Amino acid sequence: MPDFLSIQGLRAGYGEAVVLPGMTLTLAEGQVLALLGRNGTGKTTLINSIVGITRRFGGTVALAGTDITPMRPDQRARAGIGWVPQERNIFRSLTVEENMTAVAQPGPWTVERIYEMFPRLKERRSNFGNQLSGGEQQMLAIGRALTLNPKVLLLDEPTEGLAPIIVDELLKALGTITRSGGICSIIVEQNAQKILGLADRVVILERGTIVHDAASSALKADPVVLERHLGARPCREPKPRSVPTRSAACCGRRASRKRAPNWRKARSLRPIFARPRTWRSKRSCTSRPRSG
Ligand SMILES: Nc1ncnc2c1ncn2[C@@H]1O[C@H](COP(=O)(O)OP(=O)(O)O)[C@@H](O)[C@H]1O
Ligand SMILES: [Mg+2]
Repeated sequence: MPDFLSIQGLRAGYGEAVVLPGMTLTLAEGQVLALLGRNGTGKTTLINSIVGITRRFGGTVALAGTDITPMRPDQRARAGIGWVPQERNIFRSLTVEENMTAVAQPGPWTVERIYEMFPRLKERRSNFGNQLSGGEQQMLAIGRALTLNPKVLLLDEPTEGLAPIIVDELLKALGTITRSGGICSIIVEQNAQKILGLADRVVILERGTIVHDAASSALKADPVVLERHLGARPCREPKPRSVPTRSAACCGRRASRKRAPNWRKARSLRPIFARPRTWRSKRSCTSRPRSG
């Protein structure tokens, strides 16, 4: 399979600082790469270097056989680099629809197709960027990157800070995108467990260098690697939930391991929680302050 994205000996960083001392990485068409690593290991720097917004000291980046190294970031975007940055960076003063049509390029990913994938965006099509929730902003950032009809989709921590229900929705959408063909993706993620089901290859970075590059199925089978490089504990089978006993099920209660109430203790606590009956009004349950 020909390389869709080819990074060869890339040295990049910021100012005088070299963060990536010599990155070589290739991706085939349709491949989904999970980019993992602890904080500050250079994941965002690698993504930003593909986009073209870091300082390059050496090396090349090629996309579908075209050397994009000398291109500016906007030229790289038009050449097929779709980017969903960590900060999302949507146009806050444009509507949802304007955000997407502003950068759209012809191809299979139309605005209507993105609305099908994210019905919430369709409902919010005339809302401005600054009126969206965090999850909706992330959907819009992904939608906007897709309307460029990219060859490579770069997602920098797309699920960060989002509610679990939105994360599930996003991961499902990312599955649809990556299976649609004609695109390869790099997904940066802090939580390895979330992404292993989606990615087919995993690369782990340490100090801007690849320390592990393997199929995600191999990593699932050998979670010790994750623990060694990321400090992530191997995923254990979830504990089975307590099953109602027959008698408890019969009377509609769940069997619980509650201890029997300690009535002596309860009696001794009563004055704190409930005032004596004599303090209460006979007509209502609300207590009145004692008048002199
Ligand atoms: N704009 C910047 N200027 C200078 N150094 C930076 C900048 N952004 C990141 N760095 C440094 O580059 C290193 C890698 O950062 P980053 O790529 O953001 O890591 P990650 O995304 O893996 O958490 C860190 O040491 C960080 O301090
Ligand atoms: Mg980062």
